[in-house]
Amino acid sequence: MSDEFIMQMRPWFGEEEKRALAEYMEEDGFLTEFRRTAAFEQAIADYTGARHCIVTNNGTVSLTLAALATGIKAGDEVIVPDFTMIATPNSVQMIGAEPVFVDVEPETLCMDIDAARAAIGPRTRAIMLVTANGRYPRAGIAAFERLCAEHELILIEDSAQSLGSRYPDGTHMGLKGAVGSFSFSAPKIISTGQGGALVTNDDAIAHRLRRLKDFGRARGGTDIHDEIGYNFKFTELQAVIGLEQMKKLPWRVERKREIYRRYMQNLSDVPEVRFFDQDLVHTTPWFIDVMVENREQLQAHLKAAGIGTRVMYPPINRQKAYNRPGHYPVAEEVGRRGLWLPSASQLTDAQIDRVCDAIRVFYGR
Ligand SMILES: Cc1ncc(COP(=O)(O)O)c(C=O)c1O
Repeated sequence: MSDEFIMQMRPWFGEEEKRALAEYMEEDGFLTEFRRTAAFEQAIADYTGARHCIVTNNGTVSLTLAALATGIKAGDEVIVPDFTMIATPNSVQMIGAEPVFVDVEPETLCMDIDAARAAIGPRTRAIMLVTANGRYPRAGIAAFERLCAEHELILIEDSAQSLGSRYPDGTHMGLKGAVGSFSFSAPKIISTGQGGALVTNDDAIAHRLRRLKDFGRARGGTDIHDEIGYNFKFTELQAVIGLEQMKKLPWRVERKREIYRRYMQNLSDVPEVRFFDQDLVHTTPWFIDVMVENREQLQAHLKAAGIGTRVMYPPINRQKAYNRPGHYPVAEEVGRRGLWLPSASQLTDAQIDRVCDAIRVFYGR
């Protein structure tokens, strides 16, 4: 057994990325987005089955761009889960829209549809559904589509953690709403360092996304601007890495599922560790997320055993950045007991067993 420290997560790049970068640097020095970026977008579109894919600097501004392109404006309310990475609400706060927090389902940590329904008011413009750890809500995505249709709301899927995850009907996450967003930050299943992607089947939205991310240019290569846009563009260097990472995605999807299964089997008789409902046929867990007893003590015990973990997101309404009143029992419970175990695709079976053995020792099982 290795004594090497097992990190909770780390990106994984190999010789292929290095070689592709060196080849690109021999060939072109512009680095700004061009053919490799278009090829990376096509690779994501092919993999997800999207009609359009538009890449951006990261998975936060991609959500802001999605909000802008779908017509969300300052003063509008956007319903978001209280359990998510803070980028979800921040992305709409940035344009002056107001995130409205609702609780999540205890089984999936995706938005609770009854809570979402109850939060709809005259200023509500959109629902930003986070497919937490690649999961879909128990209520079903169709129920969210219906709710949005009934109230004329825009459905945006924050699928930052869900590349490689599909709904049970086979549709890739991100493609049920008006637009879906992915992130390629360092801990994601594939990474370009920073990076985001939007997918949509709507031609008009795709057109707006492309313009808005390129300063509102009327056409590529001109300095004529019909509207205000931004610089939310990518680089060829990231695309070169992303193209190599996309080739590795199918293997990583399978491996993530195997890793999750092994953790579940190893810990099945440890009642202090509870897993969420993860459909391992259609979805791909990004992280191994569990609810545990005595979290801080467990974390310290694992750290002393050379194992890294990370506490899950605290309820966002309670973060100083928002400091909003409200009681969201599930998000609060996750804030107290949620823990991410080592989750990198490169984890070996022996390392998983070492983590599980250390957990068993802690609980005396
Ligand atoms: C649910 C969710 N939304 C948005 C983001 C933001 O993505 P990025 O870090 O690429 O800005 C993340 C990143 O972890 C995320 O998990």
